[in-house]
Parts: sequence; structure tokens; C-alpha cells
Amino acid sequence: MRIDVIATAGEVQDSLVQGRLTIVIDVLRATSTIVTALLNGCKGVAPVYDIEKAWEKANQLGTELCLMGGERNAVMIEGFQHGNSPLEYTRERVDNKYVILTTTNGTKAIHHSKEASHIVAASFLNGQAVAEYAHKKYFGDVAVVCAGTEGKFSLDDFLCAGKLIHTLINNSVDVTLNDLGIAAENLYKNNRGNLHDVLKKSFHYARLYSLGFQKDVEYCMQEDICSIVPVYTDELIVVNNE
Ligand code: MLT
Repeated sequence: MRIDVIATAGEVQDSLVQGRLTIVIDVLRATSTIVTALLNGCKGVAPVYDIEKAWEKANQLGTELCLMGGERNAVMIEGFQHGNSPLEYTRERVDNKYVILTTTNGTKAIHHSKEASHIVAASFLNGQAVAEYAHKKYFGDVAVVCAGTEGKFSLDDFLCAGKLIHTLINNSVDVTLNDLGIAAENLYKNNRGNLHDVLKKSFHYARLYSLGFQKDVEYCMQEDICSIVPVYTDELIVVNNE
């Protein structure tokens, strides 16, 4: 299996994702939020590029069935019900509802990957499940898109890309990696059990701490708390049932 890790959403080109299973990662916090909402019974998460599209999508799906969520610069959007904290997406709030989500980088990364044959959302929370899905369902090439932060490389997403690759290698999958893939796998392998130490001085991790989102960071850094595989289909991210 060939796996190419892409460092930021902005570096995604159609030719890198076309015909490939594309795994999008935004550990802090968009894909962790998507996984959590689905885990808590959400009918589907609509990842949209901008705020205007978010309202359009809610009107299309029926506003009474939708929760508006997301952030700009890590802070909740005016007029929305929720920010981008996974801890806000409790069962009481999201069960049987749609979540319309627009975030600075994560939902953009999904948007940029639309030429992929399949798009899946990964985080530390469901990393092993996504790696196993990539192995069992597909034998073709895989692209791993690290969303990044403010258009720049973000270490948290890269470390999670390393986890996915490491899981595949541990399952004896024969992988061919690009240089970023080799680096990501090494970083994860050499720091398992110590992920906070690797990230504590990284930009987005530290920024979320300074904004008071410590609980979000702690939550998002948990590994494999669920086996949900969120797949993008018909403009919605839903739980894979196959
Ligand atoms: C994003 O999509 O840029 C992130 O999820 C930002 C955040 O932490 O809310």
C-alpha cells in the first residue's frame, strides 16, 4: 500500500488525492469533534467551507434538525450554537440531529480533498479503526491530509498520521511511504506514551491551552476510545456501516 502524507490542507492537489482513499486529520479539533458527534448519535456532520454555506446547508436539511457548530481562530462563530469543542457535542445535544460544521482548517481540508475516491476523518480517538479500515477496504494508494493550523504545518496532525502508519506496519501491512510518511511514523513510534511531551510547545496545542481549552486537548489526545469510521458521502460525514 502506498501512503503519501500531505503536510497541510493548502498543499492538497487534485492529482494527489484523485482515485485514492484520503484520510483527513485535524486532531485539534475538527476531526475529533466529528468523531465525537457521530459517537453520540449525530445523524451526520456536514463539513462546509464558510459561514454562508453553513446557513444554506442548514436550510436545506431543515433548521430544526441542525446544530450550527464551528470556529474561526478557535473561537465560536457569532449566531452559532456551538464552537469546535468536542466536549460540547454530547448525546443530549446531538442525538438524531445534523451538525453543520465550519472550521478554520479541518473542514477546508475535507473540501480540498473532494476529488478523492473516498474521504475518511481520523483523529487519535479513532486512529486504529481508520487504519484498519484503510487496510481491509482498500488495497490502492492512500493520501493522508494533515489539516494544519492557519495554513501552516501542525505537529498534532502529523503525529496522528504517524499513528495510522505505525498501526498499519504493526499489522504487517507492506507500506511504501513518502518522506513525510517516514518522518511521521518515526515521530510517533519514538514517542508513544509521551505524546503530550512532543506537542506541548507546538503552536496550536499551546494556543488552545492558553485560550482555556485544556480539557479539549486532554480529550483529543486519547487514543482509540472508539471504533467509528466517519466517511464522507453526499456532502455528509456519517458512520461507516459496511
Ligand atoms: C480548525 O479546523 O482549524 C481547528 O479545528 C481549529 C480549532 O481548534 O478549533
